[in-house]
Amino acid sequence: MIHARHTFPQSFLWGTATSSHQVEGENSSNDWASWEAIPGKIADGARSDRACGWWAGAWREDLDRAREGHQNAHRLSIEWSRIQPTPDTWDGEAMERYREMLQGVRQRGMQPMVTLHHFTNPQWLSEQGGWLHPQVAEWFARYVSKVVAELGDLTGLWVTINEPNVYAYAAHASGEFPPGHQDIGEAIHVMVNMLRAHGLAYHAIHGVQPHAQVGIAHHYRGMQPSRTWNPLDRLVANIRSSIFNRALPEACRSGELRLPWRRIAVPEAKGTQDFFGLNYYTRERVAFDFSAYSELFGRSLYPESAEVSPTGFIANEPEGFWEALRWAHGYELPLYVTENGVEDDADTFRRRYLVDHLRELWRAANFNWRVKGYFHWTLVDNFEWERGWTQRFGLWALDPVSQVRTKRPSADLYAAICQANALTSDIVAEHVPERFDALFPEHRPGEFSRDPLG
Ligand code: FCB
Repeated sequence: MIHARHTFPQSFLWGTATSSHQVEGENSSNDWASWEAIPGKIADGARSDRACGWWAGAWREDLDRAREGHQNAHRLSIEWSRIQPTPDTWDGEAMERYREMLQGVRQRGMQPMVTLHHFTNPQWLSEQGGWLHPQVAEWFARYVSKVVAELGDLTGLWVTINEPNVYAYAAHASGEFPPGHQDIGEAIHVMVNMLRAHGLAYHAIHGVQPHAQVGIAHHYRGMQPSRTWNPLDRLVANIRSSIFNRALPEACRSGELRLPWRRIAVPEAKGTQDFFGLNYYTRERVAFDFSAYSELFGRSLYPESAEVSPTGFIANEPEGFWEALRWAHGYELPLYVTENGVEDDADTFRRRYLVDHLRELWRAANFNWRVKGYFHWTLVDNFEWERGWTQRFGLWALDPVSQVRTKRPSADLYAAICQANALTSDIVAEHVPERFDALFPEHRPGEFSRDPLG
């Protein structure tokens, strides 16, 4: 049997990612609080309610779990509506709670990465049109300046906005997030405002903390034509990928949002990424469909051969991760995988998914690409937006009613990897034996199974 050790770079960050609304509970001043109250918006009519009880203090025990699992970093987010409950007030007590939380991360030997916007908006902002308001970027930058001035001694690693592409799409094109609009033009407008907000926030952070590392957590979804012979499938896959995957990071480099049909100058965004934050979950196939207007005439599907997660949400497509890494590497920035994971209550799928994806990440590190860290989504089952509690992404299972946590086998697998700073044949043999041969194939002289840059 082969013995191998796929080692990650020194000082590699291993952690999990969480977001305020999904774990804190008791959020009553943001747009999701009212959205969840509208019948039909959330699967099973569920609410975030107490979520994982973090606002009530359960972050302490969960971060202990992370630390015991040998994680050395944690990505969490600050809830704008708590810090600035009305346009003219700052809540010092809420700031103090986040200070405690960040200190708690550090005291456990973990480096905090802090997200400043993760899908939720203060109610006062959404009442004024949310991300369509002409001044939203300035408002966001003001809030960011306040947070960085008060908490900047505890971290220098900031994500301004989580997945602006997903937010713009879900809130303004598909309508699954509040305000539930379905208008592609609006979604583009929101993308522009988020780019401006990110740009202003980037400079505001650097004004307070010159050496800060600032980026976006960018969601990359692999998109391939369903029928490679079909020019319409190819066209639609390419157009969707250019808007969803490529346009925003490109605008952070060039200061121009380039859409297939027009270019929009966003000078504030130019040169505003110190690192590349990559959220990757899956790759889909895209088929041309004239009736799918709001999806730019493309229908998404997974191939029949795909290994699909229990609720059908995610296909295990590690090659798509490799493509994403290779593309992100082109930005020549330090790269953090800011999210990657899968919903799997029974935990039969997650371990395979995890090792398959980490192997691709190791390949990237092995080419000396600047991969600096990996944040698994997520530590404990949480409130999954419009999918409510129907999807379980945690290394730990949570019963949201009793608040009891139960460790899943994947938590031990991930802990072993974090501790070793490596994906080793021993770890795979112990925790995911069914993947051993695929990950550590016997070498047959003269045979190459795959082009390494392929
Ligand atoms: C990402 C979100 C995160 C979580 C995962 C499953 O798009 O950033 O909040 O819901 O999906």
